[in-house]
Amino acid sequence: MTRPTLAVIFSSLVLTAATLPAATFPAAADVVETRKQEFRNNVTAIKAIRAAIGEDDLATIASNADIIASWSARMTEYFPEGSDQGKTNARAEIWSNWEGFTAAARDAEEAATKLAALARNGEIAQMNAGFGALAGTCKSCHMSFKN
Ligand code: HEC
Repeated sequence: MTRPTLAVIFSSLVLTAATLPAATFPAAADVVETRKQEFRNNVTAIKAIRAAIGEDDLATIASNADIIASWSARMTEYFPEGSDQGKTNARAEIWSNWEGFTAAARDAEEAATKLAALARNGEIAQMNAGFGALAGTCKSCHMSFKN
């Protein structure tokens, strides 16, 4: 996969903006703040999943796994080259090993999608393993690409 240029990312954001209220439009300059907020939403979602596993609440597990899958699918668009400046913990390895970074995002997307499917199929016995696999993808990416 090729590295997205700022121009490509900006034009995809402009397209998105057409369907969104202006206030939620992430301007290119805000890309670091936007991605950090999305990651914090991931933590909220993963905590909700862990609590829901204790209660066998499969619907909550599925909907929160969807949130993580959706962000993981978009995540790399929020790391344009040059966005390693300012208040960010993004490591230079993201851009020097773009293939590895996109693969790590794909791993998270796949683990989240799988957990959502298991929950929708009523596979209660698989929830802990599915959760562990998903949490492992967060940790593994952070170890290589986040300070
Ligand atoms: C493909 C790589 C990757 C995956 C997968 C990933 N993260 Fe991250 N995460 C990052 C990077 C890079 C940053 C640093 C972003 C920055 O500071 O600009 C980050 C930052 C964060 C932060 C800090 C946000 C802040 O306020 O500064 C949290 C919390 C977080 N991630 C949680 C998670 C959780 C939970 C998951 C799994 C569900 C996850 N991440 C999956 C790469 C990843």
